[in-house]
Amino acid sequence: MSATGAKPIGALDEESAAQAVRRMFDSIAPRYDLLNHVLSLNVDRLWWRRAARRFHEVLARPDAAILDVCCGTGDMTMALLRHRPRGARPIFAADFARGMLARGARKFAGRAVAVLEADALHLPLRDQSLDLIVTAFGFRNLANYAAGLREFYRVLKPGGQLGILEFSEPGGLLGQAYAVYFRRVLPAIGRAICGPISGESGSPYNYLPESVGNFPAPAELLDLLRAAGYSACAWQPYTFGIAGLYTAARAQVS
Ligand SMILES: C[S@@+](CC[C@H](N)C(=O)[O-])C[C@H]1O[C@@H](n2cnc3c(N)ncnc32)[C@H](O)[C@@H]1O
Repeated sequence: MSATGAKPIGALDEESAAQAVRRMFDSIAPRYDLLNHVLSLNVDRLWWRRAARRFHEVLARPDAAILDVCCGTGDMTMALLRHRPRGARPIFAADFARGMLARGARKFAGRAVAVLEADALHLPLRDQSLDLIVTAFGFRNLANYAAGLREFYRVLKPGGQLGILEFSEPGGLLGQAYAVYFRRVLPAIGRAICGPISGESGSPYNYLPESVGNFPAPAELLDLLRAAGYSACAWQPYTFGIAGLYTAARAQVS
């Protein structure tokens, strides 16, 4: 396995990696939504909505307990909300970067969402209490992927489902062209829109392509999911494999 977790520049261990990630997201929080939409040409909206549709069945159950972890400014949560019936139990939206969460909380005003300031590796939720966990573009930032999968497994009910929406690096000619955009053009556009932002983990515009480059390929992540005990593990590529949705379930007890 090539990657155990995110390693921002300068991070010496898992704790300092997590702190660097949290500070970086807090520092870009005011510009995060704008950056996201410009850099993805708004395709991110289609990805959130497509991922939410995949879980329509569970989302449509009013009593289903649902968590959007690493929710950031809340767009995945908003996509999940579209499938919730009136009067449904609130969705938990959790993130450890207060600046990101505060922006999400504004979008959630008046909606059935319970905001949690929490670390994905130490969720303040009971064992076997959730029907669905979704995370969009957050899992890649965890300091320890196997520990994240174990923590999600702990809080999922038997039969509960997991969805991880993440970037990946497509192969072939398209992959090569995309790599140029992602590694050279994207950081330059980011700097042009938002100006330089620097922190102890280096520029966030460079962190994004670096973190995607260091993230396990789909086959490796599927192996990690199986090793953590999940069943029905699958990966569905989105937009030629630039992104994709991992799905898995905690097995029903027999
Ligand atoms: C790229 S943003 C994605 C936000 C949102 N889900 C979206 O799709 O736009 C990643 C988010 O993951 C959060 N995050 C990273 N590691 C985390 C952790 N260990 N616990 C909680 N949140 C974490 C960051 O604070 C950030 O808000």
